Amino acid sequence: MSLLEMKDIVKEFPGVRALDGVSFTLEAGEFHSLVGENGAGKSTLMKVLSGVYPVGTYEGDILIDDTVRTFRTIRESENAGVSIIFQELSLVKELTVGENIFLGQAPAKFGVIDWSRLYHEATVLLQDLHLDIDPRVLVGNLGIGQQQLVEIAKALSKNARILVLDEPTAALTESEVETLFGILRKLKERGVGMIYISHKLDEVFKMSDRITVLRDGKTVGTQAAADMTRDQVIAAMVGREVGDIFPKPDHKFGDTALEISGLDVYSIDVPDKKLVDNVGFSVRRGEVLGIAGLMGAGRSELLSGIFASWQGRYSRKITVGGTPATISSPADAISHGIGFVTEDRKRFGLILEQTILDNMTLAGLQKISGRFVTDRMRETIAANGPMKSLRIKANSTMTIAGTLSGGNQQKVVLGKWLLINPKILFLDEPTRGIDVGAKQEIYAEINRLAKEGMAIVLVSSELPEVLGLSDRVIVLHEGHITGEFTRSEATPEKVMAAATGNQ
Ligand SMILES: Nc1ncnc2c1ncn2[C@@H]1O[C@H](COP(=O)(O)OP(=O)(O)OP(=O)(O)O)[C@@H](O)[C@H]1O
Ligand SMILES: [Mg+2]
Repeated sequence: MSLLEMKDIVKEFPGVRALDGVSFTLEAGEFHSLVGENGAGKSTLMKVLSGVYPVGTYEGDILIDDTVRTFRTIRESENAGVSIIFQELSLVKELTVGENIFLGQAPAKFGVIDWSRLYHEATVLLQDLHLDIDPRVLVGNLGIGQQQLVEIAKALSKNARILVLDEPTAALTESEVETLFGILRKLKERGVGMIYISHKLDEVFKMSDRITVLRDGKTVGTQAAADMTRDQVIAAMVGREVGDIFPKPDHKFGDTALEISGLDVYSIDVPDKKLVDNVGFSVRRGEVLGIAGLMGAGRSELLSGIFASWQGRYSRKITVGGTPATISSPADAISHGIGFVTEDRKRFGLILEQTILDNMTLAGLQKISGRFVTDRMRETIAANGPMKSLRIKANSTMTIAGTLSGGNQQKVVLGKWLLINPKILFLDEPTRGIDVGAKQEIYAEINRLAKEGMAIVLVSSELPEVLGLSDRVIVLHEGHITGEFTRSEATPEKVMAAATGNQ
């Protein structure tokens, strides 16, 4: 008898068969990873399990303890012991940590919420997870990583027997990942079954008992993790052998495209604290400049300080193409030919209710259609370019962005910037949540853009990505540049030493 059995699940959306007869089992105390390309159907399968898609909107059966279950709401699946942590965070930023944890299930006395008990229970729960987070703090004031850990605490407050984690580590620092894995190991001992979705195969292999691979809404196979190699999993995911995922660089460098000096970026919460301190660098046409560093080193702040999207104080001198430039708003930056693919696609990059077309042409509107007129035909033709080159999985450019899989949403954000064809492109974690096959395509695209003369500044937490793509790497540590390496000099050891301030 399995803890969970999903049998022949079929789920269709208009024009898309997202799940085409998927079967899946989970044992008590098992860590079972679910992997597959962007759009393979992973999140959809978990939404079927958790009642987001109610019974009647899919075919097939869900059995828990050998009994068929039919959930009409998320609440009903929670009552049956299923808890899901969604790919996109679902906490309410305006509420405190404690309120979020007990949202809709707060301890009450005579119908009135018992606040002291709520915060006491929240404290106990957070301590049990060894999380040093104050339950009275507003969730909006926490970093993304800590929000993710609160989300996990929330899931656990419901005494889940089946815990689903959809890309939980995308925004976590390495030590937060370790904290999370510590928690998950403990839950495993308590007999909780876990379904883990991730594009980070290192994590998948580190933690999994079994791995199931989905492709195009079908199960390719399920096997013990110990019996599979990384390459086998990748080949099963993308349906072909994936060789070296990094392109061979043959960039020709031109003139200096962008030069920054004296860049200071100040903290928003602590106004005198510098997150980036007197940083200067330049990047040439045709060059990919990687910015390495640990989470919190100031990499994203550096980019937004230049792009003028930073909400706090900043100052710097900028020259673009050899001429001093005044950039005091993102619109200024764009008009100087700078594009910026931000790391948090939901907050800055994408309007989920709108179509791919509208999303892609928002920033590019002026360039593609002149100042005030929007020429749908020209826009559509233009938007089809990135749809193809990035292989965005959708029926057409008229698909609503919010219905795309997580990774495909990220590609739309990238596509939008490709359309305005900037001279200088900032990429902040461009492949977060993106599958290996698509990564390879995006890497090829970055390489092609550089070859055509674009100057690219790349921030990524994935060291192999920075090293594999960059012609030159600068390393940030606590807001200072602690190292600079050419492609041939940049080894993982040297870069890590500089990133941790030990060189
Ligand atoms: N609400 C929806 N309406 C229409 N189509 C949808 C909807 N949700 C998902 N789809 C489609 O179903 C397919 C599977 O999407 P799903 O989100 O399950 O992929 P995924 O495996 O989780 O991918 P990723 O790794 O990018 O998160 C995709 O083609 C997606 O566009
Ligand atoms: Mg998904």
